[in-house]
Amino acid sequence: MKLLITGLFILGAFLTELSSQNADKIAMTPPMGWNSWNKFGCDVSEKLIKEMADAMVSSGMSKAGYQYVVIDDCWQIDRDSAGNIIADPERFPSGIKALADYVHSKGLKFGIYSCAGTKTCQRRPGSRGYQYQDARQYAAWGVDYLKYDWCYNEEQDAKAAYKTMSDALKESGRPIVFSICEWGSNEPWKWAEGIGHLWRTTADIRDCFDCELNWGGLGVLNIIDKQVDLWKYAGPGHWNDPDMLEVGNGGMSEEEYKTHFSMWCMLAAPLMAGNDLRNMTESTQMILTNKEVIAVNQDSLGNQGIKFLDMGDHEIWVKFLKNNEIAVCFLNRSEQPWLCNYNWGKMNIYHIGKAVRFSSMKYKIRDLWEHKMIGTTEQNLNKEIPGHCVLMVRLIPVKE
Ligand code: GLA
Repeated sequence: MKLLITGLFILGAFLTELSSQNADKIAMTPPMGWNSWNKFGCDVSEKLIKEMADAMVSSGMSKAGYQYVVIDDCWQIDRDSAGNIIADPERFPSGIKALADYVHSKGLKFGIYSCAGTKTCQRRPGSRGYQYQDARQYAAWGVDYLKYDWCYNEEQDAKAAYKTMSDALKESGRPIVFSICEWGSNEPWKWAEGIGHLWRTTADIRDCFDCELNWGGLGVLNIIDKQVDLWKYAGPGHWNDPDMLEVGNGGMSEEEYKTHFSMWCMLAAPLMAGNDLRNMTESTQMILTNKEVIAVNQDSLGNQGIKFLDMGDHEIWVKFLKNNEIAVCFLNRSEQPWLCNYNWGKMNIYHIGKAVRFSSMKYKIRDLWEHKMIGTTEQNLNKEIPGHCVLMVRLIPVKE
């Protein structure tokens, strides 16, 4: 008997170790998917989620790398007498397991939302006090991704609260991406590596280019400005999350959406589309599925881009990629066109032990939105960059 108990104990420890190793191996590049919140808010249902999974495949999004289909707040309505979480039976009549099965049948992954507080932000039941029970339930349903919010947290210690759910997910035995959503309030970049795979760095995004709402909502430029010092905390399996995408939701111009998407890719941000995938315009589809820009985001080194040069209205960002390639993004914050005449020879980059001297290196330049080669770093770059737009290029070393 004693031997059996010891054996079971060792097996248990082995399985826990295995599942936490699994947890360390997921999200090795920034997660890509779709989330219901930005466009649909509380208006979620199994019909909507199924249609979105269908559209994810038919629109070419899944081929471009998007895989998680995540229901945000409002799917849950109550707990039963045993404390089990109950999905809204009117909106999800077939139950969450059937929905997860449907999403999986499309070759996609399935995600869900809860909150570290007693209630979610929309006052649905939160997971406080039910973390292990909820994690086991999610695993039984086939959940692959959990976004975990911070409303009604009742002044818990953030690190402890997120670690509890992280441990519960690891013990569930299913690899589940853990998305920490405490809006950057407790500087999660300093403590969340190993606890979650991504953590929000700011308040909620708004579908505008340059705006700051009095409750904290932020536009694209306002969010970018808050990412500048965070590059050192990102890497494979642990990402800064500047919030989900607004591309295609109607509040910005095509150029502004290109900028939004380009910069999220430069920042190695998770790419969670937040628009209606069923009726995307050609422009929205073209932006969200630009494979060359996505490849910068998904680069296996997992470096977050850094602001290399700040000239007020004009900025230059660089992201170091595998094979000694470099993504460079010229960001025009102003409404006026930027007549950019850039002398690469003057560019010296020193970054995490890496020094790149353009005066001694030669690169071919590929424009990632025009999809063409546009010269080498031996000549000045001569480009007009429209207002609120970017020029995003990939530098490829020329082997002499
Ligand atoms: C918070 C989060 C949002 C969204 C809503 C849902 O505001 O930051 O991303 O999940 O809650 O209520």
